[in-house]
Amino acid sequence: MTKTQRPRRSCLAVPGSSPKMIEKAKGLDADQVFLDLEDACAPLAKPGARKTIVAALNEGGWGSKIRVVRVNDLTTHWTYRDVVEVVEGAGENLDCIMLPKVQSAAQIAWLDLTLTQIEKTMGFEVGRIGIEAQIEDAAGLINVDEIAAASARTETIIFGPADFMASINMKSLVIGEQPPGYEIGDAFHYPLMRILMAARANGLQAIDGPYVQIRNVDGFRQVAGRAAALGYDGKWVLHPGQIEAANHTFSPAQADYDHAENILAAYEWFTSDRGGRKGAVMLGDEMIDEASRKMALVIAGQGRAAGMERLDVWQAEPETVKTGV
Ligand code: GLV
Ligand code: MG
Repeated sequence: MTKTQRPRRSCLAVPGSSPKMIEKAKGLDADQVFLDLEDACAPLAKPGARKTIVAALNEGGWGSKIRVVRVNDLTTHWTYRDVVEVVEGAGENLDCIMLPKVQSAAQIAWLDLTLTQIEKTMGFEVGRIGIEAQIEDAAGLINVDEIAAASARTETIIFGPADFMASINMKSLVIGEQPPGYEIGDAFHYPLMRILMAARANGLQAIDGPYVQIRNVDGFRQVAGRAAALGYDGKWVLHPGQIEAANHTFSPAQADYDHAENILAAYEWFTSDRGGRKGAVMLGDEMIDEASRKMALVIAGQGRAAGMERLDVWQAEPETVKTGV
């Protein structure tokens, strides 16, 4: 599995200043955990949190989770120390650095170069640590194409609805929810789609940000469902109660997974010598061809990454095997 295919259905935010919450996160079923030095960490707690994070990463116990640290954004004076202390201290036990409020490709280039210098200095594998870029304001959104293409390290582009809503004066106080007064569509459709295009054009994952009403799991499912329907790979979770909903929403339904695997199996058979070398064939009531195979590959890939098992297995009819019809 390549780095950008690793599942990120649920990306759990954990304050870097809380050893207790970090310890708890190790046992949860999130695909990714990010230890936060930015907004979930008070300014006076940041220096101590860097040390807490380094210790927690080096201690291990994270299983197959993707281990990420969110540093402070580049308009603050904290960013370079966040990166240097965390990566020098725990670079071999860390998968990605998340950079918030990215506004330009130059900011990604800075992080890429800094990581390379630290990796060389420390004798770490150069280029292994990935980058996750958060898009959280108008400047970031209009530059997202260049941001997504700025470094081979980049693995995900993340929509940050809270900062985004504040930065464009959107009239809602509930992060991730629709602003009242705009009843004719989804107010987040444009940024979500814009980010998704930039991500896909560069082979990256697209991740939706937080939904803050942590007790409203139905609301979470609804918002996550919209992002998943567009093609997003996952969403942030702020509370253990949102994890199962995220994992479920961003995995294919069992019937869709089975159908995708069956399309792949049938197409492979019918295009083969024994299957009759056909390019477009009927599978049940549906005509399948090369484009169907490509769509099926996406769903099957998501299901395989989520560890799903195929329950309804298509097989070539004995008749078909004999005659190639
Ligand atoms: C996340 O960082 C957000 O601002 O929504
Ligand atoms: Mg933010």
